[in-house]
Order: sequence, then C-alpha cells, then structure tokens
Amino acid sequence: MLCCKGVSKTFPSPQGDVEALRQVDLCAEAGEFVCLIGPSGCGKTTLLRLIAGLIPPTTGQILCPTENGNSPIRTSLVFQEGGLFPWMTVLDNVAFGLEMLGVPRPLRKKQAMDFLAQVGLEAFLHHFPYQLSAGMRQRAALARSFVTGAPVLLMDEPFASLDTQMHWILEEELLRIWREHRKTVVYVTHDVDEALRLGDRLLVLTARPGRICYEYTVPQEYRRSAVGKNETWKQEVRQEIWQLIRREVERSLARS
Ligand SMILES: Nc1ncnc2c1ncn2[C@@H]1O[C@H](COP(=O)(O)OP(=O)(O)O)[C@@H](O)[C@H]1O
Ligand SMILES: [Mg+2]
Repeated sequence: MLCCKGVSKTFPSPQGDVEALRQVDLCAEAGEFVCLIGPSGCGKTTLLRLIAGLIPPTTGQILCPTENGNSPIRTSLVFQEGGLFPWMTVLDNVAFGLEMLGVPRPLRKKQAMDFLAQVGLEAFLHHFPYQLSAGMRQRAALARSFVTGAPVLLMDEPFASLDTQMHWILEEELLRIWREHRKTVVYVTHDVDEALRLGDRLLVLTARPGRICYEYTVPQEYRRSAVGKNETWKQEVRQEIWQLIRREVERSLARS
C-alpha cells in the first residue's frame, strides 16, 4: 500500500515561492491502478517525483505501511520520453536498474532479455535508443520499469507523444504486463478517456496549487473493458470530469 498524507510542496524561487501542491491525500492499495488527471502545471509530475523520493515534500508524509511498520517505497518511473540512456544499448538500459540493485551480470542479462521479449523487442537488444521508433523506445522503457520488481510504478503521461494507434497498442501492452505482475500504478494523464480505459480509480487535481477535488471509482464490471465495448457508462462521468478540468484550466488562465 502507498499513502500520501497531507503532502504539500512549495518551490522557493527568487520571483516568489511556487506552491505546486497543497495537502494532497492519496492512498493506493497494493495492485491498484490509480489515474491522476489535472490541468497542465497543477503539480502532477511533482507528485510523482515526491512519491519516487527524488524531492522531499514541504509538509506531509509519503509512506508505505506494512505489517512491520513503514518501509521505504521502491518505485520505478516512466516518463513521456522514456528516459532511456542514449549511450547504452536497449539491453544495457533495461539491465541498468538491476545493476544498481547489485544483481550479478549473467542474471541481469537474462532477466532483462526476458522482459524485452515480453514487449516484443528481442530482436533489438543491441540497438541504441536512436535506432528505435518512439513506440519501441516506450516498450523498452516499460521493460525497464518492470524488470526491477519495484512494487510501485509511476507513469508520467508515458504514451502522450505517440500517435493514436501506437498509444492504444502500448496501453494494451502495459495492461497485459501489469495483469501478470500486478504492481501498484500511479498513472498521470490529461486525457479522461485514457484514465477511464486504464484505471480502477481516477483522481482529479485542481489547478495549482494542486489538490484532489474529485474521485471516481470505475465500477468493477467496466474496468479495462475492450475499446468499443459498451461505453455508455462513461458518458456521464466523462462529462463531469471534463467540466471540472475545464473550470480549473479557465481558473489558471484567468490568474496568469
Ligand atoms: N524545480 C522546480 N522549481 C520551481 N518550480 C517548479 C519546479 N518543478 C515544478 N515547478 C512548478 O510547479 C508547478 C507544477 O509543475 P508540474 O508538477 O511539472 O506540473 P504538471 O506535471 O501537472 O504539468 C508548475 O508551476 C511548475 O512551474
Ligand atoms: Mg507534468
């Protein structure tokens, strides 16, 4: 389980402090797929960086409660552009996280190859990122995020720069691997439909400072159903969330 309690983040700056997040409470059950939606600049990426432990919160706590108290959270992060190291081959990129964990070389090579095969990249092990298409790079990024076995996967608009068909294919690939490995996912998107296709639960953030202003749990029977299959249930909630986001975008535009 992952728990953010009263998390706020303010960035100091010479032009005045930037309050990015205010009092965010977010808990995700083990294996839950949570989607975060909100207008641009509302603090979505900041929240993922906080959960990943890359930056400290200004107030509040980020915890991973277990039977033996709180343990450190092991996360892996996938960015919009994949974040592969350009100077490493695909295989080395995927094995890198295992190297950091101290896994011996032959074993990390084998595990990295397993995961690359799961995303259909077995023929591209020795290619460099620039030799791959954008979709292939994101597949490699998926393999890299799953291979370390971190129980929490943080995804920051991972497929936003892909064309629509590739986007859908990668969503399906993600769901397929996720079903097999059942990680807790916090998935950032600005697309309500994408969130409704993927998530167990949707959280909507206000314009900066981001606060959670709306929560929607997708009814069990509709979760991750095939595209085009009975979608009438979405109409009302889609409308409601779009209106909320629109209001927040207008509010932030009026301020700037
Ligand atoms: N390191 C930083 N220093 C100063 N301000 C920052 C920093 N990182 C993010 N911000 C500001 O915090 C706000 C939220 O940013 P971000 O989390 O990237 O939003 P989102 O991902 O929702 O678009 C923005 O106003 C951004 O300019
Ligand atoms: Mg962002």
